[in-house]
Amino acid sequence: MHRSMANSNDTQTLHDAFLDELRDAYDAEKQLIKALPRLAKAAESDDLREALESHLEETQGHAQRLERVFTSLGEKVRGKHCDGMEGIIEEGKAVMEEDFEGTTLDACLIAAAQRAEHYEMAAYGTLVAWARAMGHEDAVGLLEEILEEEKAADEKLTSLAEGGINADAASQAHPESEEEEEGELVGAGAGGARGASRASSARGASRASTPKSNGRTRAVSAPRRRR
Ligand SMILES: [Fe+2]
Repeated sequence: MHRSMANSNDTQTLHDAFLDELRDAYDAEKQLIKALPRLAKAAESDDLREALESHLEETQGHAQRLERVFTSLGEKVRGKHCDGMEGIIEEGKAVMEEDFEGTTLDACLIAAAQRAEHYEMAAYGTLVAWARAMGHEDAVGLLEEILEEEKAADEKLTSLAEGGINADAASQAHPESEEEEEGELVGAGAGGARGASRASSARGASRASTPKSNGRTRAVSAPRRRR
């Protein structure tokens, strides 16, 4: 907003923008409350399902905290349709309609859920900063609590993805690279297999340093069955 416009009566202020964003966030939480059970139900991993279910409970708490924020500002509790969250949820639904299964599906569900989390983290980061700048201290506290839970939910999803789901899904996508990495073929003149030259040049070094096509490294104890 231009400073020169700030005093005009029909120009909206940062406080108006703040209320707008609060209504948007409230609607986003309501949309997630409807969408998360579907994501949780689709999850194959018990840990992922539990993480999504527990975030559903937190999400209900976020809507309630936002209601307290509105009240603290003397405003009516009101939502305003959040197009951003609608789009993210639509993409998540589209993924569930694809033919993914097992850990591949779980990896995709995590990707969808993390998009939602990051969207919310951006929204609450802004809301906290604006509330602080305008001296709405009650709102700052409540919004910070929500932001911290969104961050923790995001980190939980990362730990699930990197704690086995991505590696397992990747092993089904590229079963042959797993054997290389097991050390059974590496450095054994692996017949020009993909990655063999890299692998042999890294012979003697930790296998964790061998780059994989997706930029990640992995270590698994046993080859997994292909689904
Ligand atoms: Fe939330």
